Amino acid sequence: MSLIKVKNLCKYYSSGIINPELTKSVDDISFEIKRNEIVGLMGASGSGKTTVGRLILRHIKSTSGEIIFDGQDITKLNSTSLRSFRPRMQMIFQDPEASIDPRMSIEDFIAEPLRVIKKIDENEVHERVSKLLKDVGLTEDIRKRRACQVSGGQNQRAVIARILAFKPEFLVSDEATSNLDVSTQAQIIQLLKEIHEEYNLAILFISHDRELVDAVCDRWFEMERGKIKLHATPLS
Ligand SMILES: Nc1ncnc2c1ncn2[C@@H]1O[C@H](COP(=O)(O)OP(=O)(O)OP(=O)(O)O)[C@@H](O)[C@H]1O
Ligand SMILES: [Mg+2]
Repeated sequence: MSLIKVKNLCKYYSSGIINPELTKSVDDISFEIKRNEIVGLMGASGSGKTTVGRLILRHIKSTSGEIIFDGQDITKLNSTSLRSFRPRMQMIFQDPEASIDPRMSIEDFIAEPLRVIKKIDENEVHERVSKLLKDVGLTEDIRKRRACQVSGGQNQRAVIARILAFKPEFLVSDEATSNLDVSTQAQIIQLLKEIHEEYNLAILFISHDRELVDAVCDRWFEMERGKIKLHATPLS
């Protein structure tokens, strides 16, 4: 069964009140993602990839269409119901350092969802963070450091650890490795594949890098000016 079904999804932006010009960022797209899948989303800059990711996560409101998550149309949810849904869907962005509050230690950053959302007992938090650090390949000595005191790769690992603390079912990875050097990029990709397996996490993998998408995804589709241009399975 599909975890996510997107049906005729549209997002239009209007530029102004006088002579409004409509930008059709996402224009009538439909696709599905199963629980055990990593699905690639390709397309040129401005084709609508990030907008699709943000729509599915309800960071922004759609103009029309349906987003069925685990059997429920989340475009119809009010803000209270949406709040309980949010932890189930997470997003990783290109710039990990910008995702981490610079005043927070890595430990507090990772532990925040455990404390605030999951309401885990403080005695247990330390242990849970240890497990998360281990799962993303970080060592204990990183706990007290801040985002500016660790590498880009370590930052992205910390971001992933925090995401795992939510126990999400769906992850949007938006060019998550494009700011990293090639070897770090390969490590983070490997990590995404591992957590996909271990946490049974469906992933929408946004990238403009065809080779990367072929290496990571079960299948992919490509957008052009807000529309889906092509569905494909990777070349082997
Ligand atoms: N808040 C907004 N208001 C108006 N137009 C927007 C807004 N957000 C995005 N757009 C427009 O929607 C289109 C799609 O943008 P989007 O960021 O989804 O592209 P993208 O495929 O992620 O591009 P990139 O590869 O550069 O990240 C672009 O034309 C963009 O200018
Ligand atoms: Mg984008």
